[in-house]
Amino acid sequence: MCLLVTDRRRGDAPWFALTGDTLFVAAVGRPDLAGQEGAMARTLDDSLHAKLLNLPDTIEIHPGHQAASVCGAGMERIVAETIAA
Ligand SMILES: [Fe+2]
Repeated sequence: MCLLVTDRRRGDAPWFALTGDTLFVAAVGRPDLAGQEGAMARTLDDSLHAKLLNLPDTIEIHPGHQAASVCGAGMERIVAETIAA
């Protein structure tokens, strides 16, 4: 699950996304942890390419984990980044 957040006091454009275990900084979530690798990989691909990567480049992402988590591989220690990065 990801949540796209808009602060209406700042304007109508979305500000950031809480990306949970879907998109990390420099990595994506692992579809192999729930036992349905094929289905989860297709869902992850759809979430990334049909949704998250279509957001404006300036949207900040705030993942659920940083480096050293087993929920992804190759994550950065950075706690947030933009979609463009
Ligand atoms: Fe996780």
